[in-house]
Amino acid sequence: MPDPRSKRDEVSRFYTGALQRGSYCCGPAPSKSALPAGYRPEELDLLPDDGSSFGCGNPLAFAAVRAGHVVLDLGAGAGLDLLIAAEKVGPAGRVVGVDMTDAMIEAARASVTRAGLQNVEVRKGIIEELPVETASVDHVISNCVINLSPEKERVFAEIARVLRPGGRIRISDIVAEDLPEWVRADPELVGACIGGAIPEAEYIAGLERAGLVDVRVEERLRYDARQLEDMAGIASCCCGGADPRLARLAGRIWSATFSGRKP
Ligand SMILES: C[S@@+](CC[C@H](N)C(=O)[O-])C[C@H]1O[C@@H](n2cnc3c(N)ncnc32)[C@H](O)[C@@H]1O
Repeated sequence: MPDPRSKRDEVSRFYTGALQRGSYCCGPAPSKSALPAGYRPEELDLLPDDGSSFGCGNPLAFAAVRAGHVVLDLGAGAGLDLLIAAEKVGPAGRVVGVDMTDAMIEAARASVTRAGLQNVEVRKGIIEELPVETASVDHVISNCVINLSPEKERVFAEIARVLRPGGRIRISDIVAEDLPEWVRADPELVGACIGGAIPEAEYIAGLERAGLVDVRVEERLRYDARQLEDMAGIASCCCGGADPRLARLAGRIWSATFSGRKP
């Protein structure tokens, strides 16, 4: 069993590089328009067009987030969902983002400062051991992150711990059925949110085992062969095209948005 810490370090290096590639390497890496992530154009306008949104859904699109709520974003990245959440919770609410990658934390903090927001905090930490108080959060959101964790059961348990009774989740993530071993073993494809994806049913069972109820999939975004190659292009932008075998996995990899609540 590989050491989870070294797996996380690998992912962190991947995202440091991906951010850099977005601005100066070869071509449109993880462009915010590359995936049909479900954002409204005015929401995407909150970030500079530098390819710094890496989401695979819009967890806040239909979330019951209200003024005064506390929202926690797992793996906040460059911060797009933090900005959208901040608008929803208003000055009486609070938004906390957690990420482990210094370059991402810096980008998110810059986005928050640029937007002049006082009610958003970006904390450094891992989602397997959240730097967040128990039972302190109304909504846990996350966008294309938990697939990257080598310890998903710990993440699910942490979500259940930090939620208040009655608190809700809205999580968009990549899921996959029957991924071949060569995909799971490729660190670049793990970084590109493909190699670490688990089946939908396993995801739901993990959240339920952690103690959440009413867990279900609210929305699915299916990727065609071209979109899968685009995603893998995140990994391969500096080193040639995506592996042509990826296109054959179309239909087995998609993005799902999960909802659920803590009883
Ligand atoms: C695909 S990006 C998604 C970023 C953001 N949610 C978005 O939608 O643009 C994944 C992010 O999760 C962070 N991440 C991955 N695994 C993590 C972990 N175990 N703990 C904390 N952050 C993690 C990475 O540093 C990166 O910023």
